[in-house]
Amino acid sequence: MRKHIVAGNWKMNNDLAQTKSLISELKKQHQTSNAEVMIAPSFTNLMSAFEALKGLEIQVIAQNMHFAESGAYTGEVSADMLKSIGVQTVILGHSERRAYFNETDELLAKKVDSALKSKLRVIFCFGEELKDRKAGNHETIVESQIKNALFHLKANAFESIVMAYEPVWAIGTGETASPEQAQEMHAFIRKTLANEYGKEVADSISILYGGSVKPSNAKEIFSKPDVDGGLIGGAALNAEDFYAIVNAF
Ligand code: PGA
Repeated sequence: MRKHIVAGNWKMNNDLAQTKSLISELKKQHQTSNAEVMIAPSFTNLMSAFEALKGLEIQVIAQNMHFAESGAYTGEVSADMLKSIGVQTVILGHSERRAYFNETDELLAKKVDSALKSKLRVIFCFGEELKDRKAGNHETIVESQIKNALFHLKANAFESIVMAYEPVWAIGTGETASPEQAQEMHAFIRKTLANEYGKEVADSISILYGGSVKPSNAKEIFSKPDVDGGLIGGAALNAEDFYAIVNAF
């Protein structure tokens, strides 16, 4: 079902002590909100995040996982491992995973299948690079990223998928897509989904925007009709900023 979601992607930040301290700051800011609130600490801090957040409506989610169920994949973590500690949602396809760890659409299709098989919800990230936008290819790129990784799925699988449009040129750069650029792309994403799976499916999917969302621009971005929330990097590392974004709904 289409919902408002604000998810903080902590990336490779915060050791155990810093995780505990940021969570205690988040608890001070927490209030009932119109949006589902999520944080994604690193693997090593997931358990302590769960413990620290017991009873609060802040979900603890994972930043990544491997596609295999188990086996000789040194250093990797499987969907079932995440599931076994209570994780219910995983971020897949983040542009940093694509750029630094060579994650391709084909690999991501396998990860999506594995996550769904283990009944994890997926926040699926995609987005064009600056050169694509400059060349006017942004819609073609986004369409192919979505098709290649997701269009083998049956329509009902989309109940467990959240889309996250993150233009690479806006991630961690301070440069944000304008609310109009975000709306235009989100509407295109919904249309692409509608063409393949029908309007009902397309209208039921949450599409998040990510890329330099901050307290000063969240309200305007979230006010756009096809923007259902945000995936927040830098600003998620500060409890006040993060909650200013959550409260922008
Ligand atoms: P940013 O990161 O908010 O720091 O731009 C967003 C993301 O990578 O999800």
